[in-house]
Amino acid sequence: MQQKEDNLKNIISHAKEYGFVFQSSEIYDGLSATYDYGQLGAELKNNIKSYWWKAMVQMHENIVGLDAAIFMHPSTWKASGHVDAFNDPLIDNKDSKKRYRADVLIEDAIEKIRKKIDKEVAKGLKRFGDDFNEEEFRKTNPNVLRNEGKIKDIEDRMRDTLNANDLEGVRDLILDLGIVCPISGTKNWTEVRQFNLMFSTELGSVAGDASTIYLRPETAQGIFVNFLNVQKTGRMKIPFGIAQIGKAFRNEIVARQFIFRMREFEQMEMQFFVRPGEEMKWYDYWKNQRIKWHKALGIPEENYRFHDHVKLAHYANAACDIEFDFPMGFKELEGIHSRTDFDLKQHEELSGKKLQYFDPELNESYTPYVVETSIGLDRMFLAVLSSAYKEEKLENNSERVVLSLPPALAPYKVAVMPLTKKDGLPEKAHEIMNDLKFDFNCIYDEKGAAGRRYRVQDAMGTPYCVMVDHQTLEDNTVTIRDRDTMEQERVAISELAGIFAERCSMKELLK
Ligand code: GAP
Repeated sequence: MQQKEDNLKNIISHAKEYGFVFQSSEIYDGLSATYDYGQLGAELKNNIKSYWWKAMVQMHENIVGLDAAIFMHPSTWKASGHVDAFNDPLIDNKDSKKRYRADVLIEDAIEKIRKKIDKEVAKGLKRFGDDFNEEEFRKTNPNVLRNEGKIKDIEDRMRDTLNANDLEGVRDLILDLGIVCPISGTKNWTEVRQFNLMFSTELGSVAGDASTIYLRPETAQGIFVNFLNVQKTGRMKIPFGIAQIGKAFRNEIVARQFIFRMREFEQMEMQFFVRPGEEMKWYDYWKNQRIKWHKALGIPEENYRFHDHVKLAHYANAACDIEFDFPMGFKELEGIHSRTDFDLKQHEELSGKKLQYFDPELNESYTPYVVETSIGLDRMFLAVLSSAYKEEKLENNSERVVLSLPPALAPYKVAVMPLTKKDGLPEKAHEIMNDLKFDFNCIYDEKGAAGRRYRVQDAMGTPYCVMVDHQTLEDNTVTIRDRDTMEQERVAISELAGIFAERCSMKELLK
């Protein structure tokens, strides 16, 4: 665990050193849980957005995009349930004065029991070797079964107390589990309280309830209120989806762990409108599609797992998370929710406008059901960055930090370098770069020794360096140096565009 925490610290300082992520308003000592993306971060973020948008919108004939405003009519949030129910149950430790989300404390306790099960399984594997049948072992080993039972009891109690808004019951569960504050180590807990997470502000110059508006806590509602606009103007037929990328705001009380939990963040959401009764089929379809999208990046599969929600949100009849093994352990990266017809029905009721679809095949009108996929762009950024970050010891005993980013997402695809600053090599290098830059984001670097320049590009995650040397002037060839293998190959300049198109394009990922 300590190793992982150190890893997060190293990633944060690397992200700052190379211009990926800065603390917001740093010259004023920063604003907590808000971050700015620097010159490389903005590129990486844009590439992740583009990968998502292409996969969701361009690759699906029945999905279109939208860009709705952040400010929405206040009734939106009454209808969606956010005014009344978008709360976190919070608890304070009286000794450390630290505040925690009660449900997160309980989930962390469950995770500890899961780790015990994993240890038991690992012991079994060691004992039985190749003959080990993990499925059978999990079904029969008394220690595993006892711990599975414990987890089920805790999850049942957590779900029941949270669903009934029984805050005393939630506190009792924390006490019964013997959960201590990670800072003070004591069980000296306050009562559990509910806290609404929406930021509010005033519209225009008049103060008072009537003019209170909210910064959207999710982008989804901008899609729901535009359901009919898009369906009618785009002549969309059910099933169809509307996708959106945009900022969302939540007054997170427990905001830490770098860009994992922020107060201002970005979501990439898609609402898929389906016939009532068909939602579970589409829920499974989208679970499958989304995990494929993640795995196509080549990040090791064991970094992902599904987690079914214990407590369903007020709008859902099924929900799960795709969790990622972040430097601080497995945590939610993306949510897939079957939202029923809750949102459209609520907006219908509060607006008085009909939000139904006439299905020509069934010859009837109905309120569509919705399956949503919702991923945090910043969390995806952290997943990509943390899995790419490597500290390597090389054969000659030197060390390097390399970001093995998927080439299609890397901020720069190619660094073009002249071997020396004279003999016409910079001019030739510029000529090559000026040709490549129409298709690939390139960077030019002529400062310092070649080895040092390669190291800098490794740390920035640039997958390929093109070195222009004296031979280039004679035969129009260059070397391409590969970031991950560090191997070099000599190729004709005329081949470069084709090589990089094949190795860096998103096409392969999208297929
Ligand atoms: N429309 C559904 C919805 O908003 P959610 O599970 O609350 O569902 C979806 O959020 C995703 O948004 C999460 O899986 C996470 O990736 C991201 N997210 C939520 N809160 C966040 C925060 N405070 N900072 C960064 N990302 C966040």
